[in-house]
Amino acid sequence: MRVLVTGGAGYIGSVVTEELVKDRHEAVVYDSLYKGHEAAIVAGAQFVHADLADAATLRQTLAEHRIEAVVHMAADSLVGESCAQPAKYYQNNVVNGLVLLDAMRDRGVNRLVFSSTAATYGEPDQQPIEETAPNNPANPYGESKLAFEHAMRWYAQAYGLRYAALRYFNAAGASERCGEDHAHETHLIPIALQAAAGKREFVEVYGDDYPTPDGTCVRDYIHVIDLARAHLLALNALDEGGRIYNLGCGGSGYSVNQVLEMARTVTGKDIPARVGPRRAGDPAVLIASSDKIKRELGWKPEYQDLRVIIESAWRWMLAHPDGYSE
Ligand code: UFG
Repeated sequence: MRVLVTGGAGYIGSVVTEELVKDRHEAVVYDSLYKGHEAAIVAGAQFVHADLADAATLRQTLAEHRIEAVVHMAADSLVGESCAQPAKYYQNNVVNGLVLLDAMRDRGVNRLVFSSTAATYGEPDQQPIEETAPNNPANPYGESKLAFEHAMRWYAQAYGLRYAALRYFNAAGASERCGEDHAHETHLIPIALQAAAGKREFVEVYGDDYPTPDGTCVRDYIHVIDLARAHLLALNALDEGGRIYNLGCGGSGYSVNQVLEMARTVTGKDIPARVGPRRAGDPAVLIASSDKIKRELGWKPEYQDLRVIIESAWRWMLAHPDGYSE
């Protein structure tokens, strides 16, 4: 299939592109490089350097490359930032997303796999979270992704869009070639590894008074390769209307303290931690039930072990001490 990958120069986007190319799809990366890296673009993929808001270039790209399907990952995705700057999240994740939906509709491209998030649920009463749990986002990030999911639902009904919304839990780890390199890192695992590498003095733990076994937040970490493979399964399964799937590893998840302890074990380094205040918008616990995608699409995560996930991220960091260094 000829697939447009918006955000294909980003952390998850580059690994999804890698899997598409391996599976002999023709991938066209569409990225503004405002957060992505040119060096992350996988060999074998084509690259269009443009912003989603640029409707003319987007439409031209769909036509010139005779795009048949889109994997839409270009977005802003930080919970804390979204609480401080909701306008940015509505603009990029909703308004610019609609530019894409309209361009696809007008061009007759009706297959879409969308990177959504566990943040759509807010903090449900029951864990693990199933797709039938009520949506109640606790931050503008989750709200903006949910708004786009709703838009897809109505575009499906009116214009025949076929879509899958993949609700990611906490993506982590690296492939051999592609890893996590954010100009301003906010994610727990890379921050812990930066501390292990001596690039920061300590890790601030955002609150230890949550109603969890050790008082720190619990999350469901999923290896970025397992996550990427789910996109290909979803792409091949698209049929009438829409599907929503959670993507996590389930189990009992890992607390912030457990992640830090595992990072110490993997790296053999001291990682000092200091407890600070809670971060706005953080739910206490987010754990996925991914039974639906396993049952319906035969998704099987291969790298569920947190140790394996952190080892892959550490290997990538050691091989790329300055990230993609552009
Ligand atoms: N944390 C710290 N200190 C840090 C960084 C993070 O204590 O320096 C804590 C956070 O408070 C949170 C946990 O570590 O409890 C994980 O935080 P991340 O920032 O790594 O990830 P989030 O859970 O905030 O968010 C991620 C994605 C979102 C997605 C969400 C869904 O970034 O896009 O997972 O679970 F919505």
